[in-house]
Amino acid sequence: MPRFMKSAAVVLTLLALIPLLVLVKDRVTDSERPRLSLVYDMDDQDKVKTQRASELFADGRSMRPPPAGTVARDEPVGRDHLRDGRIDTLWVETFPAPVTRAMVERGRERYGIYCAPCHGLAGNGDGIVAKRAEALMEGTWVPPSNLADATVRARPVGHLYNTIRHGIRKMPAYGSQIGVDDRWAIVAYVRALQAAQAGSPADLEPADLAALGPPPAPEPAATTTQQ
Ligand code: HEC
Repeated sequence: MPRFMKSAAVVLTLLALIPLLVLVKDRVTDSERPRLSLVYDMDDQDKVKTQRASELFADGRSMRPPPAGTVARDEPVGRDHLRDGRIDTLWVETFPAPVTRAMVERGRERYGIYCAPCHGLAGNGDGIVAKRAEALMEGTWVPPSNLADATVRARPVGHLYNTIRHGIRKMPAYGSQIGVDDRWAIVAYVRALQAAQAGSPADLEPADLAALGPPPAPEPAATTTQQ
């Protein structure tokens, strides 16, 4: 190859690098000028980046606190019993509204969606998630409580409501997924589950008791058979 062609090739190669270098310089520079983009993908626009200072506001904060008096969406205002399940520091022992059959049925449906996976359909703590964790023998797994246990039965309804809303110990909060009315509906259904497991015939109305008929005969004593 003639010498001048070799030099031309070198010069051309160097020239070809210039646009690339300009681009690289432009992308790493911290100048105020917008960066050069090959694909202009809205990467240059006026916006506030997380935790950056702002010149617009007197306090220099770009992340603004909510205006005074802002209330959380879907949370009733100023009704502690309904919203918090407690009045001052005391858990409420009563439902904020009369418990209806429709409410308990709604509670059963929601319980089946949100609680049964861990606590089991009857609330005994044997849901499919708990069974799976046991099968995997996870050393750190805390089993879901048995909702029919005396401790949980003794909890005021406001405490159960709060457990759904904010979670408790290892149990996560469901307040962001379950609204106020549904939380109370689930509490009503949990009470029904507890009554079903810890009730006695004395809890029934006389007419319902009569409809059940005479109590079953005691089990015959077990006999041993030899084979
Ligand atoms: C992801 C699994 C999981 C789900 C889903 C779940 N829980 Fe729990 N729950 C737990 C665990 C685990 C505990 C025990 C926590 C501990 O002892 O650290 C618990 C404890 C409880 C307790 C006992 C709290 C006490 O007073 O000691 C109640 C009541 C309860 N859950 C109700 C519910 C209800 C109602 C739902 C449905 C809205 C629900 N849980 C959904 C895992 C779950």
